[in-house]
Amino acid sequence: MQKFLTGLFFLTLFGLSSSNLLAQESEQLKQQYKRPLEIPFPVNAPYSPQLATLGKMLFFDPRLSGNKDLNCASCHNPSFGYEVPIKTPIGTTKTPLDRQAPTLLNIAWVTSLFWDGRALTLEKQAEGPITAKVEMAGKFDIIIERLEEISEYEKWFKKLFPQKGIAKDTILTAIATYERTIVSEWAPFDRWVEGDEAALSPAQKRGFEVFNGPGKCASCHTGWLFADNQFHDIGLSTTDIGRGKIEPNNVFAQHGFKTPTLRELTHRAPYMHNGSLTTLQDVIELYNSGGIKRISRSPLITPLNLSKQQKSDLIAFLKSLTAERNNVTMPILPN
Ligand code: HEC
Ligand code: HEC
Repeated sequence: MQKFLTGLFFLTLFGLSSSNLLAQESEQLKQQYKRPLEIPFPVNAPYSPQLATLGKMLFFDPRLSGNKDLNCASCHNPSFGYEVPIKTPIGTTKTPLDRQAPTLLNIAWVTSLFWDGRALTLEKQAEGPITAKVEMAGKFDIIIERLEEISEYEKWFKKLFPQKGIAKDTILTAIATYERTIVSEWAPFDRWVEGDEAALSPAQKRGFEVFNGPGKCASCHTGWLFADNQFHDIGLSTTDIGRGKIEPNNVFAQHGFKTPTLRELTHRAPYMHNGSLTTLQDVIELYNSGGIKRISRSPLITPLNLSKQQKSDLIAFLKSLTAERNNVTMPILPN
């Protein structure tokens, strides 16, 4: 009897402390996904609401393109999570580009830009699409002339940049400032992290465990951004060497692409740098199989052998990263 009681006592004690430990661990895990409260504006490009408003006007203004036919939103459409619902977007020459447009959501937290990380600041990046012949095919001298003829733009620039007025770098500064304000809305997942247990369904909570456990997704899709700002070859079928162009001697850079955020995924299909995967099911099947085995493939990618239930829980979880509501107002542009 004595022995039995002590045994029971130890069992209970052990049982309790291990479940406490589990609860503690899961709380710690959740805390790694807490949203930041402020946008990190660079010291040399501080936020001002006027500057962001001007930048938003320019972002939506097709007069920045050679033929006045495309704006930034032509390929980064807010209705589709700042992407386009086709494999790769089409520029002014009507030919599909080589890569899908990455989302601009939470771009202020992204440390290297483009799928291969070849641009380091949003200011520098924005020059690319405006002038590229296959994208907007704009010329800055013409754009500046056009904007100078629009008195409201003239006034905005004079007020915000008394010395420089309308110039290439002031246009790029304004656009970049607006881009940094593009932040994904609070999603059910964020409310769960903040303590609202009812915000996620049981399947979504199980999916979070798969994401951090057997799915190994969190080794690259880290933190509230769900991205580590690093480059990896995940074994996707592609002829594009991605980061390999920038780091030709690094084996692991070949077919390496920047980890994209997983926020607002449900609006952002098709997926990957080449838009080759149509649904989230396709994405999970790729990871489950481990994709193409080649020397560049990340050591973090191996076949997963997830059960049917684990796969559907994972998809349910990914859907909890999309906000229920997300309204974007279009600016009325001056003439
Ligand atoms: C014709 C389509 C098209 C237009 C127009 C366009 N983009 Fe893009 N954008 C892309 C594509 C495609 C990429 C990815 C290219 C790559 O990685 O090689 C991209 C990449 C980006 C990135 C990098 C995002 C990241 O996560 O690395 C930013 C920022 C961006 N564009 C902003 C803009 C801005 C600002 C404008 C307007 C001035 C603009 N884009 C116009 C297609 C377009
Ligand atoms: C080794 C790092 C790594 C791991 C592990 C990883 N990913 Fe990814 N993920 C990436 C990279 C890099 C891309 C972009 C690849 C490309 O376009 O070629 C990506 C793309 C995606 C996309 C497409 C997003 C878009 O914008 O098109 C989804 C969805 C995704 N991953 C979900 C997951 C899930 C779910 C898991 C776990 C089963 C996972 N990832 C594991 C690095 C990783």
